[in-house]
Amino acid sequence: MRILVTGAKGQLGSAVVRCASSAGMEVLAYSRDELDITNSALVESMLFREQPDVVIHCAAYTHVDQAEVEVDTTYQVNAVGTRNLVFAAEAIQAKFVYISTDYVFDGQAKAPIDEWTMTAPIGVYGRSKLAGETYVRDLHSRFFIVRTSWVFGHQGKNFVKTMMRLGDEKEQLKVVADQIGSPTYAEDLAEAILSLIKSNCFGVYHISNSGACSWHEFAEAIFSYTKQPISVIPCTTEEFPSLAPRPAYSAFAHQSLKLNGFKEMRHWRDALLTYLKVEKRQK
Ligand SMILES: NC(=O)c1ccc[n+]([C@@H]2O[C@H](COP(=O)([O-])OP(=O)(O)OC[C@H]3O[C@@H](n4cnc5c(N)ncnc54)[C@H](OP(=O)(O)O)[C@@H]3O)[C@@H](O)[C@H]2O)c1
Repeated sequence: MRILVTGAKGQLGSAVVRCASSAGMEVLAYSRDELDITNSALVESMLFREQPDVVIHCAAYTHVDQAEVEVDTTYQVNAVGTRNLVFAAEAIQAKFVYISTDYVFDGQAKAPIDEWTMTAPIGVYGRSKLAGETYVRDLHSRFFIVRTSWVFGHQGKNFVKTMMRLGDEKEQLKVVADQIGSPTYAEDLAEAILSLIKSNCFGVYHISNSGACSWHEFAEAIFSYTKQPISVIPCTTEEFPSLAPRPAYSAFAHQSLKLNGFKEMRHWRDALLTYLKVEKRQK
């Protein structure tokens, strides 16, 4: 199988490239320098030349707060960039995987959110990602929309790395306890995406590690595994004002995985342990 990956140097893109290469797939990995998805002529010529069987679209404008300021740029990448790719992918009959987000929901749910829950994004980033989803549904006939959340991978920045750095610098740290979500190990997500693309079970999927927690619980788990002696004080979102609003509750139910016979991913605590072991080995 010949797969083309956008955003190949990003947190998830690099995990997809690694997993697909070790599974023996032919991988065409494109970073932003090599394939700027906002350049429609380039996108079209690249896809027509490379003729991949599948496009896994991991590129995105992911700066959630800055998106509130750079609104046009955010839509240019997340909506129009996705349109460019999806249009070309349909023309060459390549399956299409669009990575979306828990930020398409408003955070008012009280129980894990399934794939049929109404979307209602509350910020620019979430709205632009939902606009990308709409292009995928409108312009492609064989797609997977994969919504994920709270991603931690080995490439780039993430919450786990930030906590580990602060754990070395501080004795005490306040972490938000009133936002609940589902952490997702990028390598586990990459494996799940590779299972999807071998099938024709097209549609929308919520894919995260199993279980849910608050950022505070997540931080406590990190420090208990790394044995960093820091005390983690729970605080509210209000105490940490940010430009973009965050959904208060975005834990995922994995109904599409279950109904289509795919394995649900392991618990986030097990995934976190593996992640930390790999990080330690790489140091
Ligand atoms: N991280 C999370 O917690 C999270 C949660 C839910 C959903 N997601 C979604 O998961 C996907 C992967 O996210 P990630 O965590 O891997 O993000 P990431 O590390 O920020 O990677 C995104 C990549 O896209 C690239 N990019 C930006 N603009 C581009 C353009 N115009 N053309 C081509 N490439 C461009 C970025 O390059 P530069 O670095 O050079 O800008 C970066 O390498 C995204 O669709 C994101 O919306 C992420």
